[in-house]
Amino acid sequence: MPDTTPAQRPAKDSRASALEKRNIELIRALNDLRVRDALKTRFLSNISHDLRTPLSAMITHAEILRDGLVGTLTPRQQSSVDGIISGGRQLLDMVNEILLYAKGSAEQLTLAITEFELEPLIRQLYALNTSLLEKKQLSFEARLASGLPRLRADRDKISHIIGNLLGNAIVFTPSGGRVWVAATQGKTAAGLEVVIEVGDTGIGIAPEHHDLVFREFAQVDASPSRPHHGTGLGLTIARQLVELHGGRLWLESQLGKGSRFFFSLPECHLEIPGGGMAA
Ligand SMILES: Nc1ncnc2c1ncn2[C@@H]1O[C@H](COP(=O)(O)OP(=O)(O)O)[C@@H](O)[C@H]1O
Ligand SMILES: [Mg+2]
Repeated sequence: MPDTTPAQRPAKDSRASALEKRNIELIRALNDLRVRDALKTRFLSNISHDLRTPLSAMITHAEILRDGLVGTLTPRQQSSVDGIISGGRQLLDMVNEILLYAKGSAEQLTLAITEFELEPLIRQLYALNTSLLEKKQLSFEARLASGLPRLRADRDKISHIIGNLLGNAIVFTPSGGRVWVAATQGKTAAGLEVVIEVGDTGIGIAPEHHDLVFREFAQVDASPSRPHHGTGLGLTIARQLVELHGGRLWLESQLGKGSRFFFSLPECHLEIPGGGMAA
């Protein structure tokens, strides 16, 4: 039995050709969006690359002034030069963040794998942040489980991920609070993994914003009067870098109750003591 009569067939054919036409239009629109997205990424990459050179030169010249290499500065001049240097560095960090994001979006990031211990890396990050922690009177604690395997990963990128999460924890925790970094080893169906946590007792994030904070350029408080002026790219990049290692990045947080960000590193990025290389 035919499922359509001759009278029904033209209607069905015209529906099919309308659908096909729509399909072609959608594919064209998608390709167009892809081209625009690639152009945007290239623009971001070029502009941030070009901004870095003059900005670095400005910082270097200000450092020459600060170090008295072209004459002694008065205390007031010294304080102005210090302002130029710290503002310049802040700007350079933001430009570097945009460049890293553009590279990640264009899938141009690669891993430079070395073997290293987590503990000295955390100590280094703590040292970099001591003045900020002291300024805000925040306590810091590193809780690394004993017998953690050495990592076989991209040290700079792991440092960038933890540094970024730590930076956020410090920014979003009011004076007198606590900030910590913890690491444990666990087991999943896929094998061993190390989970690193960066936590704080700060302002927290409402559940409805848990997805938003990982979106590019997104900030919970995006008002011009917000106290913190970041690019909104930190968590997007951190997630890109974790996923580049085959891990996951997630968060647990409630408004007003602090935040805990976790990321995992799978067995192929661990060196199991006494058992040779994992995976
Ligand atoms: N530890 C935290 N506590 C509270 N809010 C946070 C924390 N970390 C991130 N956020 C929220 O997520 C947003 C995005 O973070 P991020 O991607 O690092 O960008 P940025 O720091 O440049 O704003 C922040 O603006 C903030 O609203
Ligand atoms: Mg940030």
